[in-house]
Amino acid sequence: MTKLLRCLALAVCLLLLAGWAAAQVAPLAANIGARQTASLDGQWQVIVDPYDVGAFDYRAQPLKNNQAFYKNHKPQSESELVEYDFDTSGQLYVPGDWNTQRESLLFYEGSVWYKRSFDYTKSPKNRLFLHFGACNYLAAVYLNGEELGEHEGGFTPFDFEITDRVRAKGNFLVLRINNTRGKEQVPTVNTDWWNYGGITRPVTLVEVPETFVQDYFIQLEKGSTHQVKGWLQLNGPQLQQEVTIRISEAALGGTIQTDSKGRGEFSFSGDLTVWSPENPKLYAVEIASETDQVTDRIGFRSIEVRSTDILLNGKPVFLRGISIHEEAPTRPGRAWSEDDARTLLSWAKELDCNFVRLAHYPHNEAMLRMADQMGVMVWAEVPVYWTIQWENPQTLHNAENQLKEMIARDHNRAALIIYSVANETPISDARNRFLRQLVQDAHSADPTRLVSAALQAHEVAEGKHITIHIDDPIASDLDVLGNNEYIGWYVRHPEDADSIDWISAYDKPLIMSEFGGDALFGYHGGTAARWTEEYQENLFKHQIAMLKRISFLRGMTPWVLKDFRSPRRTLPRFQDFFNRKGLISDHGEKKKAFFVLQKFYRESQGAPPPK
Ligand code: GCU
Repeated sequence: MTKLLRCLALAVCLLLLAGWAAAQVAPLAANIGARQTASLDGQWQVIVDPYDVGAFDYRAQPLKNNQAFYKNHKPQSESELVEYDFDTSGQLYVPGDWNTQRESLLFYEGSVWYKRSFDYTKSPKNRLFLHFGACNYLAAVYLNGEELGEHEGGFTPFDFEITDRVRAKGNFLVLRINNTRGKEQVPTVNTDWWNYGGITRPVTLVEVPETFVQDYFIQLEKGSTHQVKGWLQLNGPQLQQEVTIRISEAALGGTIQTDSKGRGEFSFSGDLTVWSPENPKLYAVEIASETDQVTDRIGFRSIEVRSTDILLNGKPVFLRGISIHEEAPTRPGRAWSEDDARTLLSWAKELDCNFVRLAHYPHNEAMLRMADQMGVMVWAEVPVYWTIQWENPQTLHNAENQLKEMIARDHNRAALIIYSVANETPISDARNRFLRQLVQDAHSADPTRLVSAALQAHEVAEGKHITIHIDDPIASDLDVLGNNEYIGWYVRHPEDADSIDWISAYDKPLIMSEFGGDALFGYHGGTAARWTEEYQENLFKHQIAMLKRISFLRGMTPWVLKDFRSPRRTLPRFQDFFNRKGLISDHGEKKKAFFVLQKFYRESQGAPPPK
C-alpha cells in the first residue's frame, strides 16, 4: 500500500473519529434526582427492526432521507411511499427490557426503535439535558429528526444537551437500541446472564441554570474519620465563581473560588457521625454557587486495607455478603426501581448481610442509594467478564469509559467501598496490561476506595490433601483479592472442601466472591442428589466450614441471592434457561441453603474476623 494511500486512509479515520466525537454524550450531570426534572417514562412507540432497515439501505449504506426511522416521517400524499409508522407499530414500557414484555422478544437480539413525543417549555437562559439511566447495549439517539449521538455500554448513564434543539411543542425523540453481541464489546459474546435489550432505566429531562454544578466528589480523606476532602466542577460560561459547601447538621463547610476551568477543591474537618451498616448516617450536603444550588444526601466513612484486614472507619470488618444480579425481585426482567432495590436489599439484610456484590455490571442508581440508606456496603463491577479482546484498543477504551461512568455516577455513595475491574479473566500478558490500566484508572478517579477483581485460583493436590493457591499476577495491583470457586459443584464433591486449604502469595484480604451450587426450589432428595435443596444445603455447610479456616478471608459473596435467567442454562425442568444457584427462587421462595448462610452470618454477627 503506497505511502500516499496510507496517509489518505489515516486522514479518513481521523475525520471519521472527529465526526463521531462531535456527536459525543455530554458530561454526566451529577445527582439528577435533586434537579428540576420531567420524566419521559411510560409507554413508547416501538418498531422491532431485525434487519436494520430503519438505519441502512439495501446496500448497507446509512439512511439519511425520510426512509430513516429517526425522521419519523409520515406520507405527505397518498402516493408517497413510507414503509414504517411508529404510531401503529405497538408499544413497550420504558424503563424496561423488551425481552420480558413480549413473548416474541424473549430471545430477541437486534435493533428496536423507540419513539416518544413530548412538549417542553424551558425557562429562558436555562439549559436542558436528556438523561438516560442506561440502554442495552448500543444507543443511537435522535431528536426532531437530527442525530444527538451514540452511547455504547448497557449499564451506565449518559446525557445529551438539547438546549438549542428542543421545541415548546411537538418534539419527537427517537432511539435505535441494538443489543447484538460482538466479540470486541464489553461484555463480549459469552455471558451467564440474559442479554436484556432496551431502554432499561429511566429517561429524564433535566433543566439546569446556564452555569451549573455539573459534578462533585465529597468524601472523607483516605484513612481519616474527620477530614472531608473533595472537588466540584462547574459547567457553563461563568466558570470562576464563589461556591459554598455546607453540611449544616454538623456545622461544617467552607467557601472556595473555582478556577478558570470551573474546578474547585476543598477540605475541612470536624466531628461527623461516620456511616456504617449499624448506623447508615447520611447528611444533607448543600453546594451553592453564584448561579446554582444542589443538595445531596451523603454518608462519610473511611475504607482501607492493612495487611489482610479491611478497615471500615479504622476498625477491622468482615464482609457478610451475597452476590446479586440486576433482575427484578417479584417480576421477570431487569430491575430499575427503588422498590426493586428495597426488596432485593431487604432479602440480603434478612440473611444478615452487611455487604452485597452487584454482579457483573454497574447496577441502577436506585440500588446504590438504597444501599446507602439501608446500610449495606457494595462491591460494584464493570462487565470485563471472561474472554474480552485484551489486545483491542477500542475494547480497552470502552471498558475504561464504562468504569469512568460508573465511578462518576456513584462516587458520593458511602455504601460503595469496592470497585471490581473484572470477573474470571484468563491470565495473559495482554490481560494483565488491560486490567492494570483499569486499576490505575479507578485509583486516579477515586483515591478513597478499594479496587478488586474476581480471580480464579488453582489447586495443587498432594495425595488426598489439596491446597488452593492464590497467585494470579494481577493481584499485586489490587487492594483486595476476590476469588470465585465452585468446589462441590463444577469440581469435586461438597465434602472435599473439608480437606482443602488455601494459600495466598499476597499479604492482602480475600473476599470469596463466588461459591455455590444449583437447586430447584421444592425439589428434594439426598444430599448427593444434584438439583435438590439438600445438595445445595450440604454444599453450603461444607463451604462455610472451609471458609472459616482461611486466615486471610475477610468477606464472602456466595453465588447468588436469587435464581436468574441465563441463555447458557438449557436443562429442562431443572433450569429452563435459569441459573438455579439462587438461595431464593425466581418466585421469591427461600431454599434450605438460605437458612444455612443466615445462621452463619447471625452467629458471626459482630464476631471479629478470623485470626
Ligand atoms: C461463574 C460466573 C457467574 C456464573 C457462575 C455460574 O463463576 O462468574 O457469572 O453465573 O459462575 O456458573 O453459575
